[in-house]
Amino acid sequence: MNIVVIGAGTMGQGIAQTLAMYDNKVFLIDNNENQKQTAFQNIQNSVQKFVKKGQLTESQGMQTILNINIATPLEQLTHASVELVIEAVFENLEVKKDIFIKLSQLFNDATILATNTSSISISKVAENIPAPDRIIGMHFMNPVPLMKLVEIITTKHTSEKTLQKIVLLTEQLQKCPCVVKDFPGFIANRILMPMLNEAFLSLQQGIATIETIDTICKLGFGHPMGPLQLADFIGLDICCNILNIMAQDFNEPKYKPATILTNLVANGHLGKKTNLGFYNYSISTNKLIPNEAIYHGL
Ligand SMILES: NC(=O)c1ccc[n+]([C@@H]2O[C@H](COP(=O)([O-])OP(=O)(O)OC[C@H]3O[C@@H](n4cnc5c(N)ncnc54)[C@H](O)[C@@H]3O)[C@@H](O)[C@H]2O)c1
Repeated sequence: MNIVVIGAGTMGQGIAQTLAMYDNKVFLIDNNENQKQTAFQNIQNSVQKFVKKGQLTESQGMQTILNINIATPLEQLTHASVELVIEAVFENLEVKKDIFIKLSQLFNDATILATNTSSISISKVAENIPAPDRIIGMHFMNPVPLMKLVEIITTKHTSEKTLQKIVLLTEQLQKCPCVVKDFPGFIANRILMPMLNEAFLSLQQGIATIETIDTICKLGFGHPMGPLQLADFIGLDICCNILNIMAQDFNEPKYKPATILTNLVANGHLGKKTNLGFYNYSISTNKLIPNEAIYHGL
């Protein structure tokens, strides 16, 4: 399949790599030229790891890289028989709507338009877009090449044909498609985000340290990562946005993000991607070092 991925950040990189590993031709788009170069480099490094671990042969690794094109502008792709576009830009309704309007002008009604949003209503993104039967949510998990789940979100307009094509593609990527309705937070984040927020509130209330909260959840629930480490990994801005969207769309203050989270985000500390969140990643990449500034009222 020829597939366009818009947004070459954390998720766009993982989605592009995964699609390319399974023989799809991927056109990776970002409005930040440097980000596209960084993304390509990160994908190359990740593919190298797959090759080193024996999960891809040398030639499969090379083919994966060859399957990814970062040079062609979006406007030139309209004649490239693109069957699917997956949008993975910032978690912001207006930004996503603008992109969907542009996509509907560039591509004909046969091209499926998917969004990787974690929480924004797919129906709102699809509002006023012609042929809404080809619009669907395709919520990959981070890190995409490793995580088996794809939450697939249908609106009341999504056609059975669109759904079946996306389910089939997900299975071809060796992932498990789970189909859900268009509701705030869908299922994954509706359950995950309140749990993360309780961890933020527990830390804010001084009940336990960063490491203790994470250790309790790891050992107590058998989770591979504690909630504070996981939030750093997802991106604190993303967590904050999702909680705000759930608070607003459910009209429920219980989803409001904890102050400790909003303060970190306001200070530009977004977790692993900025090297500082609940942990400090600039000191060591092997050992988890808590961000001590949090205890001094950051
Ligand atoms: N981070 C996660 O764990 C995670 C998991 C599942 C889903 N998501 C969702 O995936 C989406 C992307 O998240 P992310 O973590 O990759 O974000 P990110 O900030 O790492 O990347 C977003 C990218 O989009 C680009 N971009 C912004 N506006 C653009 C535009 N108009 N045209 C082209 N490119 C543009 C930015 O330059 C950036 O490279 C969000 O909707 C998020 O909610 C994130």
